[in-house]
Amino acid sequence: MSTSPLFEMLLRGALDRAFGAGDDPAFAAAPGRCTLVGEHVDYAGGLVLCVAIDLEVMVAVRVASGSLDRVAVGDRRFAREGPLRAAGAGYVFAAADALRHRGLEIPPVEVATTASLPAAAGLASSAAVIGATLVALLRLQGASLTAAELIDAAYAAEHDILGVPSGRLDEHAIVESPEGGAILLDCAAGTVSDVPWALDDVVLCVCDTGERHSVAGVGYRDRRAEAEAALHAAGLGNAQHVGAAAAIPELADPTLSRRLRHVVSETRRAAAAAEALRCGDAAALGTLMTESQRSLRDDMEVSTPRLDAVVEASVAVPGCLGARLVGAGFGGSVIALVRSSAAGACVDAMQVAAGEGSSAFVVHPSAGLAFTAGDAVTRV
Ligand code: GLA
Repeated sequence: MSTSPLFEMLLRGALDRAFGAGDDPAFAAAPGRCTLVGEHVDYAGGLVLCVAIDLEVMVAVRVASGSLDRVAVGDRRFAREGPLRAAGAGYVFAAADALRHRGLEIPPVEVATTASLPAAAGLASSAAVIGATLVALLRLQGASLTAAELIDAAYAAEHDILGVPSGRLDEHAIVESPEGGAILLDCAAGTVSDVPWALDDVVLCVCDTGERHSVAGVGYRDRRAEAEAALHAAGLGNAQHVGAAAAIPELADPTLSRRLRHVVSETRRAAAAAEALRCGDAAALGTLMTESQRSLRDDMEVSTPRLDAVVEASVAVPGCLGARLVGAGFGGSVIALVRSSAAGACVDAMQVAAGEGSSAFVVHPSAGLAFTAGDAVTRV
């Protein structure tokens, strides 16, 4: 994914307006991600089937005239002062710090950002801001990282520097997804395998419900802690440690029992979904997506009435094969797997169900940074 000349011109103008004329900037763009099946299992050593999507965050970076990192987002300006926050410009500052911590010489920088990817909508906008900033900074310095190092740096920015308790799903998806295909991520082994998108007349519809969510919030932190406690109580190292056909253990604590049922069953569904995608079985993939939603609603308890309503409205559209919330939940977006001929009807139904402040659109699997970042990211 590369920035277009038009966006480069806009970002250059944004830098000049915000901070005055300066050196030539370096540019980069990073995609968002959609999980197909495998939500809330990355931190539990489960399996995740996901794609990068053709909505992106674009950044321009240049050496600063002063001694502080500064960021322009639209008409707003932020200077690097005080502790970093997991929001907006905080992701940019954290990305610069992650490279400095790795020993790269990163001078104070001025950064402008823009996006077609909605923020805080469950589509990994924070990982995309961090990923695009990292690549632009590498280009500015004529430096490079391997794909694995880029994932580590992006994760360090969000998790270690900003203290967000996320797993590694988003970073893997936006770096390692192949053009027009999905990846199956094994979060216990840290390995990734490509899964070609073998579905001809099927697209993904996304509805950003307008209900905002935050991975830095207490809901996500609690669910992660409960899932980890449930695995521990069951004596399991990770969500793959229950054999494929074995019964999922019941725990004395009903909440922990539900969390365990989610991480184990969702991991099984992700494996089955990868098989369905490989075989071009869209109906089976859609069914697994809707089952995933039920588990996220009833066992993980991360859905909301609005997300449920959008899922129900989607699956009621003839030609919609399945739908589920995407990302951490507690708000954000719904994705639906839909026959191409029904995409318009599904997008309309989603938007009506989500109500004011929502938007719905079709997205396509897209390439991650390992394939688009040229010399800044090497694939080894
Ligand atoms: C957020 C986190 C990811 C993952 C998902 C839920 O996107 O950043 O690590 O846990 O939620 O699957």
